[in-house]
Amino acid sequence: MNTSSQPYMRTLAGMRPTNILHIGNYFGSLEGMLELQAMPNVDCYFMVADLHAITTPYNKGELEEYSRDMVALYIAAGLDPKKSTLFIQSHIPAHTELAFLLSSMVSIARLMHLPTYKEKIKQHPDANSLALLSYPALMAADIILYKTTHVPVGLDQEPHLEITRELIRKLDTELGVKLPEPVRFSTKSSYIPSLTLDGKMSKSVPNSYIAISDSFDQIHKKIRAVPTATESGGEMSPGVKLLFDLLSLVSTEEARRYKKDFEEGSLQYSQLKDALADSLYVFLEPIQKKYGALKQDPVYVSTIIDQGTQKASAEAETQLTLIKKAMGF
Ligand code: TRP
Repeated sequence: MNTSSQPYMRTLAGMRPTNILHIGNYFGSLEGMLELQAMPNVDCYFMVADLHAITTPYNKGELEEYSRDMVALYIAAGLDPKKSTLFIQSHIPAHTELAFLLSSMVSIARLMHLPTYKEKIKQHPDANSLALLSYPALMAADIILYKTTHVPVGLDQEPHLEITRELIRKLDTELGVKLPEPVRFSTKSSYIPSLTLDGKMSKSVPNSYIAISDSFDQIHKKIRAVPTATESGGEMSPGVKLLFDLLSLVSTEEARRYKKDFEEGSLQYSQLKDALADSLYVFLEPIQKKYGALKQDPVYVSTIIDQGTQKASAEAETQLTLIKKAMGF
């Protein structure tokens, strides 16, 4: 569909606004956004998925603040408003509108069988809402509105991308609307295990995660608590493997050095833990500083959001109009 030598790449990604963002989120999504932003031929749209936030219990008094904080964090982590369009999903009504239109093209049964949906209703049995069921239709709308080709998300989001691709095929065969089929843009590590070694890092499990905002002491304390007990035979235990995996994300050099010690049988786990905690803090500190400064400058953050909304909105409206027309409106 694209005949120029430069491949057409458009990325859209979003994270739900929460007060706690951990390094699992960072390495699963944010790092992918940063990588895409650094590529010369990619048009980048990054939003805060605040509409998705209401699909599970949330606090309405904090929603707007968390969304703005999230934009500040995006910038602090390195997303550059000069290169990427940053916005808040609910500021652009086309998202909600297209989500409803798309919901007419996907069956309830298809949505009910998604692992993400099943997991969420298990977590929140009293909040089994229609919005939760149609979460993937909203995510498909996000992706379709920007003619997205690459989506930097964790592996757990793949079923949502599959629904999006199915919808895109339907838009083509039933309505003649042509769109690129988006693929997942995977990062170095799209699965970060919990520090308790039980499942993945999750903000709803205390001590399972390192938050981006964690202090030096908090990081040391949490890393020190990772169980490292080895069975006899010198096999690497899951805890030690986790320590190495995390260390290689923030300092490949050190990871290599300690791996050598491990192989020679001279590694002290307390040393490895201290080195990892130090490296994590070195990695997070500049982000924390920049975030702190941005929190002091809400006017700047608002300006960025307004500019991003204007640009994204024009794009989204064009796409929405096209689809509505094709649907008979
Ligand atoms: N569902 C995504 C997540 O939980 C968040 C999201 C919403 C998203 N809309 C999106 C991600 C569009 C990428 C593209 O991670």
